[in-house]
Amino acid sequence: MRVRGTVRVPGDKSISHRALILASLSEGDSTIRGLPDSGDVESTARVLRALAAAVPPLSSVVSMKGAGLHGLRPSRTSLDCGNSGTTARLVAGMVAAQFFTARFEGDASLSKRPMKRIAEPLTYMGAHFEFEHGDGLPMTVRGCDLRSIDWDTGGSSAQVKSALLLAGLIAGVEVRVTEAAPSRDHTERMLRAMGIDVENDGNQVCLRPSARLTPLDFDVPADPSSAAMFVALATMADEGEIVVADVCVNPIRTGFIEVLKRMGGDITPGAVRESAGEPVASLTVRPAALESIRIGGGDVPSLIDELPLLACVAAGNGIELEVTGAQELRVKESDRIAAVVDNLVSIGAAAEELSDGFRVRGRKQPLAGTVDARGDHRVAMAFGILGAVRGNRIEVRGRECVGISYPGFWDDLKRAVA
Ligand code: S3P
Repeated sequence: MRVRGTVRVPGDKSISHRALILASLSEGDSTIRGLPDSGDVESTARVLRALAAAVPPLSSVVSMKGAGLHGLRPSRTSLDCGNSGTTARLVAGMVAAQFFTARFEGDASLSKRPMKRIAEPLTYMGAHFEFEHGDGLPMTVRGCDLRSIDWDTGGSSAQVKSALLLAGLIAGVEVRVTEAAPSRDHTERMLRAMGIDVENDGNQVCLRPSARLTPLDFDVPADPSSAAMFVALATMADEGEIVVADVCVNPIRTGFIEVLKRMGGDITPGAVRESAGEPVASLTVRPAALESIRIGGGDVPSLIDELPLLACVAAGNGIELEVTGAQELRVKESDRIAAVVDNLVSIGAAAEELSDGFRVRGRKQPLAGTVDARGDHRVAMAFGILGAVRGNRIEVRGRECVGISYPGFWDDLKRAVA
């Protein structure tokens, strides 16, 4: 397979959720360019509108007026978070600091995902949570006058950390969060760019109360998780080169690129510039022979969303991969450990589940068959990339679920493969 051209993947999903949320809470007019046309980001926009935030229809340039830290109002209907865990958890943090109640609901996949991880610390701060079954959605949050918190999450989750930071920001109380390994820090970077006193120190973050947020004016950089798909494609190609333009190269999101380089990948970043506190660069990627690797512990947070793709890269390259310390994959949009292993086995690769990861023993032979995306956009795209490798014939069932983060994925893939 030969690859070619420049790919512009959609704007980063994590940064886009935060941009809409923080622009709503700021005082004045914000302009956000490069929001992705993504189902998840639409979910955040819809939920914010239900809470009376002035979020216009999403397009490539969004101008909106923030109502300040205390401008949200109760919704007459339940908040429909769709498939988006980031929407549910971050907005729950905002609602916890309001003097009203909101009921959160989501699709079948989101309803199975754990919310206790935010309910516990937010309850400690003074909010009230009610669950209708287990600790998933639907969930009702009753906001209150919150107190400050110093919380050790025992894990690494940007959604938990960000929920607490947003609650503290609105309530005007200090928040300190300690993690086992640092999670993505987009909330902190954006808050700093908006004039808030937030400090990151190793595994700890501390937010100090502030009266107002200044508005945003920035370009959302391309999503490194979507970019990773084309980095993998070019690495597995026989010839050619792909440039992935204007990617967010925040070190907490470039774990996939770093690991691929350790395995022998040929990835060259161009000049680095900055947008709203995030480093941005274009990446040039060429085919490379890769070596086997083991990933665990501290490596995991910076490539958690790329692990299904890494499994597909190992299977397509005939190398061995062992991933441990990634039990979080069990509670993503699908059980990604089971989804990856079952699908790899069904197309003829050797793979096995571990309780907290998986083992893949790639074989240098064509892979063929039908895989099931299980409604999970990252699983669909990872197997789409593996299917583009010379000799492989893979059909992805449920391929339309890529719309959650990257609706144009299949067209871009077709264009990149000559
Ligand atoms: C996200 C954080 C990560 C990531 C998810 C997006 C975010 O989840 O897997 O796709 O935008 O904060 P956790 O915070 O649960 O690790």
